[in-house]
Amino acid sequence: MLYNLLLPSPPAPAKVFDQMASSAAMDLSLLNPAAMRRHAASARPRVAPSAAAALGRRVVRFRVAASSSGTAAGAKPAAKKRGKTEIQETLLTPRVYTTDFDEMERLFNAEINKQLNQEEFDALLQEFKTDYNQTHFVRNPEFKAAADKMEGPLRQIFVEFLERSCTAEFSGFLLYKELGRRLKKTNPVVAEIFSLMSRDEARHAGFLNKGLSDFNLALDLGFLTKARKYTFFKPKFIFYATYLSEKIGYWRYITIFRHLKANPEYQVYPIFKYFENWCQDENRHGDFFSALLKAQPQFLNDWKAKLWSRFFCLSVYVTMYLNDCQRTAFYEGIGLDTKEFDMHVIIETNRTTARIFPAVLDVENPEFKRKLDRMVEINQKILAIGQSDDIPLVKNLKRIPHIAALVSEIIAAYLMPPIESGSVDFAEFEPQLVY
Ligand SMILES: [Fe+2]
Ligand SMILES: [Fe+2]
Repeated sequence: MLYNLLLPSPPAPAKVFDQMASSAAMDLSLLNPAAMRRHAASARPRVAPSAAAALGRRVVRFRVAASSSGTAAGAKPAAKKRGKTEIQETLLTPRVYTTDFDEMERLFNAEINKQLNQEEFDALLQEFKTDYNQTHFVRNPEFKAAADKMEGPLRQIFVEFLERSCTAEFSGFLLYKELGRRLKKTNPVVAEIFSLMSRDEARHAGFLNKGLSDFNLALDLGFLTKARKYTFFKPKFIFYATYLSEKIGYWRYITIFRHLKANPEYQVYPIFKYFENWCQDENRHGDFFSALLKAQPQFLNDWKAKLWSRFFCLSVYVTMYLNDCQRTAFYEGIGLDTKEFDMHVIIETNRTTARIFPAVLDVENPEFKRKLDRMVEINQKILAIGQSDDIPLVKNLKRIPHIAALVSEIIAAYLMPPIESGSVDFAEFEPQLVY
């Protein structure tokens, strides 16, 4: 799973997009056989009615702004025809990431980088090959029955949860798949681990997409691969962001699983019963990124690394908090208090992250939560302006002071005294299961 980041997104080079799209398209059959058939018949520039549509399902696509510089050349952003439902893309929508694969090859070249601990990567590879969850993601009739019972706003917000989760998982699949392909020659062991992680993410995304079929919907993952804006991060930032995404994904899933195990009356849909084993995949992915970071100590052992570590922690935590506070109906629907849930996830993720990042935020300082709550209030005002009847120019003018207030609150949170953490020599650090 690749969680989202509240960051401006530099556009991905078109070349990178083309490579990722063609590599990923071949693997879409794992998730969506219809997408594979479409890929084979790629003479048609846009998607023909998919199997899902033929079965009377709606196919959900993502709106990609026509002005977006990151939109891949040749992709047709306007997917309005045929009355398909679209998802409004905002700064908080889950993203698809790409990186500088040439630099990645250099980083994992054992000839150049003597820090690479091949023994540790060999051990991790055996762990991934074991494939603990090979037979875990098997559905049963409970799914459809539970979906049919869900009505009103909860049904709507639930569908959105499935869509966003599916996109985040699929985003991980795309990135890991391409890393597995590109690193094959330079470092076959690391490459194979990436490929096996993409296997896991494909399963997760596929399972969520099947969940959507219970609601007579399907995410058009082929379209998503081609038309979505790719966010470009340098390898260093990919490491920070993916490590945090995997660990925060782990803590989200396990927290929901434990809560529903203790409060089965809120078990509204059986997908949560799968979260216990599922989140172990995310945990293993995070541990692999720990090992990758250890192999690149230059990303962990100087003052810049500390600043970037805090920056990425803050981006991930703020994005999750703002996102979830816009969707309290979902969390309340499964018996959770949104803010309590989020703070638990943030604190646990931060404690886990402190084992590897050289600095983390002091999220257990009550002032940090007060700042997050103020950001939520400001964000609500910004959202209310967007929903008003004003003309766009007036909306933009009205937003300016609130955006300034939000930015200053984020900067103030960033500047709070941090916690020094991690270990430069890593002698005693060993990735371990936190569950
Ligand atoms: Fe995942
Ligand atoms: Fe993952």
